Amino acid sequence: MNNKIISLPLALVSIMGLSACDDTKLDKELSNIIEDQNLNDHPQRDLPSINDDIAQLGKKLFFTKALGGDFDSACVTCHHPVLGGGDDLSLSVGVSSNDEDLLGLGRIHMDGATESLPSVPRNAPTVFNLGLWDNSLFHDSRVESLNVVEGTNGASGDIRSPDSTFSTADNNAGRNLAAAQARFPVTSADEMRGFTFEAGNSNQDVRDHLAARIGNYGEGIADGIGANTWLTEFQTAFGGATAAEDLITYDRIAHALAEYERSMVFTDHPWQRYMDGDEDAISETAKKGAKLFFTTPENGGAGCVACHTGQLFTDEKHHTVAYPQIGIGKGDGTDGSDDFGRFRETGDADDKYAFRTASLLNIKVTGPYSHSGSMPTLESVVRHYVNQTKSTNDFVANQNGMGVCNLPQFEDMTNCATLYPNAEDNSRAALAKLKAEQTAGDSLVPENLALSDSEVDQLVAFLEALTDPCVEDRECLAPWIPTASQSVDNHQLNPEDAEGNAL
Ligand code: HEC
Ligand code: HEC
Repeated sequence: MNNKIISLPLALVSIMGLSACDDTKLDKELSNIIEDQNLNDHPQRDLPSINDDIAQLGKKLFFTKALGGDFDSACVTCHHPVLGGGDDLSLSVGVSSNDEDLLGLGRIHMDGATESLPSVPRNAPTVFNLGLWDNSLFHDSRVESLNVVEGTNGASGDIRSPDSTFSTADNNAGRNLAAAQARFPVTSADEMRGFTFEAGNSNQDVRDHLAARIGNYGEGIADGIGANTWLTEFQTAFGGATAAEDLITYDRIAHALAEYERSMVFTDHPWQRYMDGDEDAISETAKKGAKLFFTTPENGGAGCVACHTGQLFTDEKHHTVAYPQIGIGKGDGTDGSDDFGRFRETGDADDKYAFRTASLLNIKVTGPYSHSGSMPTLESVVRHYVNQTKSTNDFVANQNGMGVCNLPQFEDMTNCATLYPNAEDNSRAALAKLKAEQTAGDSLVPENLALSDSEVDQLVAFLEALTDPCVEDRECLAPWIPTASQSVDNHQLNPEDAEGNAL
């Protein structure tokens, strides 16, 4: 306190004194929580730098449409650093778009010349902090470690993937979860492959063909990739003067994509700085939100930490939280528009409508939220935890900021309320599963979470404080974005937004 305060009227001094004292009390409580729950205790990880040669190669591969069967979609189509490592859309649009270089809002799936709804069934998660996952990738964990060792990103043993049956190893998965995952988007017709390239052939046929295209050898020559320097890039990254046939394999492509993704470590958020001792790093409101987040409902908190644990804010397990289901679906339910989540992998009825707990790092920039992108804002997510029935009703009625007509991707469509006719039934089915779990005492989602409006605001403020300032700063993200002159072939995707501005 400085001396001037002494000259203030007594009443004011005591008000200020009181609030300063409250402040300290809250900091003390949080410091106890941080210590008791070991919140600042993270495993050491061996992650690449974006300046490593293999990560640099991965960056260029991530941005080339040459990995899309019809040269019209790249990894970056749905995972751009400036778009939070995702695509800003509820549901992704890959091949057959209105403009292959337009990313984010305004990218529309085309059925011939007709605008149509996205054909990708789920929301694209961020690729930021990919190296921090130890158990699994994808919303249903269909790429998963069979020998989980914390801190290793799945590098400690076998990995199961869609190429192997449940709980058995995919012997070609590669060295970590990120590399195992990077083998699949190119095989998905809607994301990257298209509908004619290697149609009807195996995933490995697709990968081998793409590697041959990038290396311009064998069956890839006919694709005519055109002038490029891929061979030199691969030689720089992997060493030696090896010939393209031997050097440019899909295994190495996946490895390089993975190293690029694993170099995206964005964990220096205000809450981390607070835990490291900077008491001014987060606002008073966010501090109150933190207390709610890490305190059980029995003790007056919101109980979020029951599932959102650790440095990545996820237990990497599967839970039914019953966010509304929108989109074309995964082929489940009566008309195929439903998505049974983890059940699709395990076949266990308990897993129906369960999805992998999302990470909350950088959550401010990774919306819309949920596996189908049905939740427009952090406030809508928090209100869902307060009352899942009300949130579902609001969604169905397109009211209180919820519903398809309140999602930026669909809000301008005159028929937004009827775009997904089975969304109500599917969402209510997920809600019924959650209610049954809660009644049986099997759910970690509290039945009645009586949060006031200001407590909702506090939780939102805390969630926002989990965002590394770098991900909101184009300059800071520049090392992960190739410039036009870094283009290795004529297929680099140099993205624009709907207004034609470069991303
Ligand atoms: C058309 C959009 C699209 C394209 C193109 C695309 N992805 Fe994705 N990506 C998604 C969607 C949607 C998911 C979630 C799928 C699911 O969980 O079933 C996803 C999931 C992922 C994940 C899992 C993240 C996590 O937290 O589990 C990673 C990693 C990833 N993609 C990397 C890539 C790479 C590498 C490429 C290029 C080889 C690529 N993606 C191309 C849309 C896309
Ligand atoms: C029972 C476990 C559980 C609890 C408790 C829980 N969550 Fe979640 N959370 C999840 C799961 C699972 C998902 C992903 C659901 C999906 O994809 O459909 C999720 C998703 C989210 C998302 C969206 C992330 C994204 O990128 O889509 C946010 C934000 C979130 N939770 C915040 C919270 C907050 C705040 C609380 C406390 C009020 C909380 N969660 C309590 C399991 C839980």
